[in-house]
Amino acid sequence: MKVVLLSLLFMTTVVSAYSSNIGQKVDSLLSVMTLQEKIGQMNQVSGIDFSTGPWNKESSIVDALHRGEYGSVLNIHDPEEARRLQTEALRSRLGIPLLFGLDVIHGMSTIFPIPLAESASFDLAQIRQSSRFAAVESALCGVHWTFAPMLDVARDARWGRVMEGSGEDTYWAAQVAEARVKGLQGEDGDSCRIVACAKHFVGYGAVVAGRDYNNVDMSVAELYNFYLPPFKAAVEAGVGSIMTAFNDMNNVPCTGNKEIVRGILRDEWHYDGVVVSDWCSVAEMCNHRYAADQKDAALKAIAAGVDIDMVSRCYAQYLEELVAEGRVDVAEIDRAVGRILELKYRLGLFDDPFCAFDSAGADAVRCSPAMRKAARDMAKRSIVLLKNDSATLPLKNIKSVALIGELCRSKVDMMGNWSANGDAADVVTLEEAFLQRNIKTNYAKGFSIDNDECYWKEAVNAAKHSDVVIVAVGERGRQSGEDCSRGELTLPDNQQKLIGELKKAHKPVVVLVMGGRPLIFNLAAADADALMVTWWLGSEAGNAITDVLFGEYNPSGRLPMTFPAHIAQLPIYYNQKSTGRPLSEEVSFIKGYIDIPYKPAYPFGFGLGYTTFSYSVPKMDKSQIGPLESATLTVTVTNSGQVEGEEVLQLYVSDCVASITRPVRELKGVQKIRLRAGESRTLVFDINEAILGFYDNAAKYVVEEGFFDVMVGPNSNDLQKCQIEYKL
Ligand code: GLC
Repeated sequence: MKVVLLSLLFMTTVVSAYSSNIGQKVDSLLSVMTLQEKIGQMNQVSGIDFSTGPWNKESSIVDALHRGEYGSVLNIHDPEEARRLQTEALRSRLGIPLLFGLDVIHGMSTIFPIPLAESASFDLAQIRQSSRFAAVESALCGVHWTFAPMLDVARDARWGRVMEGSGEDTYWAAQVAEARVKGLQGEDGDSCRIVACAKHFVGYGAVVAGRDYNNVDMSVAELYNFYLPPFKAAVEAGVGSIMTAFNDMNNVPCTGNKEIVRGILRDEWHYDGVVVSDWCSVAEMCNHRYAADQKDAALKAIAAGVDIDMVSRCYAQYLEELVAEGRVDVAEIDRAVGRILELKYRLGLFDDPFCAFDSAGADAVRCSPAMRKAARDMAKRSIVLLKNDSATLPLKNIKSVALIGELCRSKVDMMGNWSANGDAADVVTLEEAFLQRNIKTNYAKGFSIDNDECYWKEAVNAAKHSDVVIVAVGERGRQSGEDCSRGELTLPDNQQKLIGELKKAHKPVVVLVMGGRPLIFNLAAADADALMVTWWLGSEAGNAITDVLFGEYNPSGRLPMTFPAHIAQLPIYYNQKSTGRPLSEEVSFIKGYIDIPYKPAYPFGFGLGYTTFSYSVPKMDKSQIGPLESATLTVTVTNSGQVEGEEVLQLYVSDCVASITRPVRELKGVQKIRLRAGESRTLVFDINEAILGFYDNAAKYVVEEGFFDVMVGPNSNDLQKCQIEYKL
């Protein structure tokens, strides 16, 4: 015991010495910096050849680097360009090294599945590994800082950025947040560690009407219960930076919102990492009509606690003036610059400004066998099987396949949006994967994915000459992502009605739905013999899909977002409120809508596999718990099918009566297990106040007395219930 205490004491001493040592270095550097040099550190510029938002391009930044006018640069994709700019920055008076930032959202050069797809795996270890691999490639390419993970809870699939996040559930988004931050930033001893950036703080996924950049308005309880927790998880996981969102939150733009940045991040959560604005979001406070001009915007952003101004130059142009006028205290500047310098020290940039830059190393790692295996492992686990009539899948003894649709042979679409240094040439398409398996492919375009043209005759003919038909429907890879909100998610008739035509060839028809968001495909689903959601799976897309089609991997993905039956249902999500007239098929008086169904096409958490699982009746070992006590829910799961497979066990909690209206259920636990055919396993979930509490309308976390339904099952609909009472 004594040894443990001594080693803990030693570790604490080392960590605090390390921190104070960095603290001393930061203070010493600050003491010799001019005000202009300090403001330079708060100014971020974009690389000239690539921008991720509207701006007035800088002609050349080298002279400005010599004057120490930039502290960080984003959108540099080439390690040699990064090396060149870093060399120029080191020629400034104090030679403070630059931070290089880039949106590495799902892989740097080897492209992994889009984050929404990875979220569908419900496999935290895989998600963390995916982030680690992305960090290694990024660091070798000269990236110190990625603007990821995106942690915006999103319930409206019209918003194109749902592709970048973990879906509609808060609990799961918080779990993924921790996995991604730890994967990206690595642990002591890891090489190629980069800084993560939790974004977009906060509530961006709740934009009105799913329209990107639109306003956001919600109750305090909604904010604290549904949108803040993933960011808190990221802070607790040690995330090095946080990015403010474009949107306003309750009438104040996030980039100038003291309540959420200073109030919640700094004061409530004691976050002392770097806060960076989103692209031009400082200046855009003028467009919000919240700032009178860019000087006023700079004042509001620094007052809110934003350390770095991304691209808008408001800090560069006005902070010095604001200090001279006594409206900004130099101490505020010093605190912001201190956080930026500390990040650079922690990254080791002052010891080695070129950090892990290694062009040759980057080339060697790019799509290496190990990287491709990791991408393929992640991709196959992200696929969600929604229908499999008559065990159409897995495919057996087929010699020829009809591949219908451009997406069967498209490389660029498989990468999805935000594909960093990804090269479409590296992508393995579905067609290539079948050819590599020496299976004859009969390709037919079938339909245009960009307009309503049909080429059904050729498609039906290809079907007639094949053992099985695979049809890839969906949207383009760049139809989801930033500034890609869509008002129509129903797949066009030229895609959906083709399935019915193909059925006339009397061959099994397997439909693959490819996209970056929930789409609507009721007709196609009705006619398909089997249907899978394959999202955008990245460099190994084709191999991952055929691994699943041939049963080499038994699909285990589950929907991280509710799939609507009609666009008008949006926003639709499983953890809705009960309301005074709960929707029910039994009560005919309450219809939801008179002209469309109110139920979704597929519920949150849903997904099938090639085997089946049965659940025992769950048991709770206690009927009542009090403060600091816990109960245990026990359930036995059996693989009742013929092949080994994985099940995603989900635990939901419902507060039967509370001091504010609460959701009908909330996900509070996930366990993904692998069982051999016939194998049973008993699993337990800890039921304690940590999963019974909520934030009230005063943003106070409360656990109230009363009864709670505790439910467990394979998705948010098919659940068995226990009950527990919480008593003070
Ligand atoms: C973009 C995005 C943000 C990204 C940033 C830098 O506009 O909103 O997610 O990290 O600009 O590219």
